Amino acid sequence: MNEIQVQLGERSYPIYIGAGILSQPELLTQHIKSKQVVIVTNETVAPLYLDKVKQQLQQYQLEVVILPDGEQFKSLSIMDTIFDALLQARFSRNATLIALGGGVIGDISGFAAACYQRGIPFIQIPTTLLAQVDSSVGGKTGVNHALGKNMIGAFYQPQAVVIDVTVLETLDDRQLAAGVAEVIKYGLIRDIEFFTWIEANLEKILARDQASLIYIIEKSCQNKADIVAEDEKESGIRAILNLGHTFGHAIETGSGYGTYLHGEAVAIGTCQAADLSRRLGWLTDAEVERIIHIFKQAGLPVEPPTELLAETFVDLMSVDKKNVDGDIRFILLEKIGSASLPVGVEKAQLLETLNEYGR
Ligand code: NAD
Ligand code: GLY
Repeated sequence: MNEIQVQLGERSYPIYIGAGILSQPELLTQHIKSKQVVIVTNETVAPLYLDKVKQQLQQYQLEVVILPDGEQFKSLSIMDTIFDALLQARFSRNATLIALGGGVIGDISGFAAACYQRGIPFIQIPTTLLAQVDSSVGGKTGVNHALGKNMIGAFYQPQAVVIDVTVLETLDDRQLAAGVAEVIKYGLIRDIEFFTWIEANLEKILARDQASLIYIIEKSCQNKADIVAEDEKESGIRAILNLGHTFGHAIETGSGYGTYLHGEAVAIGTCQAADLSRRLGWLTDAEVERIIHIFKQAGLPVEPPTELLAETFVDLMSVDKKNVDGDIRFILLEKIGSASLPVGVEKAQLLETLNEYGR
């Protein structure tokens, strides 16, 4: 097992990464300071891993909340299901919430933990590759609004993140690829060596070679932990983690939550961001091709949905957390391995990308 520390002073926490570590109860119990524990999961993950987690926690007063599965349920209203269970069980402020699932469960549960009695401790057990390499780390929690992705939420750090790579055995290929999109992101924004390694080892990753999966999870978590330690609340460098997300969130909202997986939308959005970077003279044609190629090789979509017109994109992107005074700002690539801070671009250049890339 490997351990990576997210260094945030008194809110620092470990990320445990290994194979089979869900059967090590102390990884959870050492972070639980109460008798009351609630596990929040969904109807897909519960039959697969709930019993295993419950087995480690027999000495606690245990409640389980099973939510419906899907991005379309990542809404404010679903949070009442969690609050109802906590209140009916008379859970106190020192109760611990465990999020068992993908990024949707992690984001909803983390936000519920931030809100219940103004904040109870929580632990992340991410079960998708995307959640293991990105969403479970760094404390961004929240839900979607009909008008914008992740628009309601809080920064709220977990007590620990327990990543057992063996849970990925039950994940389908499309979901695995969606996670790979966020892994590629780390290479693109700050780690050219990692990007080159992913290019060379993509087949092994997609074939779920365990050592390769552990390697990409560790590298991704280390990259994310470094960025979060430097800029927890995204007043600067953390924004680079949003490469491709301005376009990607517009695709998710505009197509209806759940139509495109988050990682798929990020893959398309990153190709659009690469195209825009080329138009600004930052990336070469060859670099853009290299970026599009790796996403395609991973089995990810690289072109925006044709029904989403340029003006609709602009309208949807006007609801983005990086915007300042209503101006849309993008994370772009100066080169492979180096991302810009949020930048505004001329509307004409943006429209060129929206009207020409992938159309
Ligand atoms: P998800 O949570 O919807 O999980 C994908 C699917 O896999 C679901 O159907 C789920 O039930 C199923 N599943 C989960 N684990 C499984 C397993 N081990 N075996 C079989 N099936 C399993 O999607 P996701 O890609 O994990 O997360 C996407 C969400 O994460 C989006 O809402 C996105 O906005 C959010 N996100 C948040 C952050 C952050 O920093 N908080 C970062 C990136 C993404
Ligand atoms: N996924 C973007 C972030 O955590 O900042």
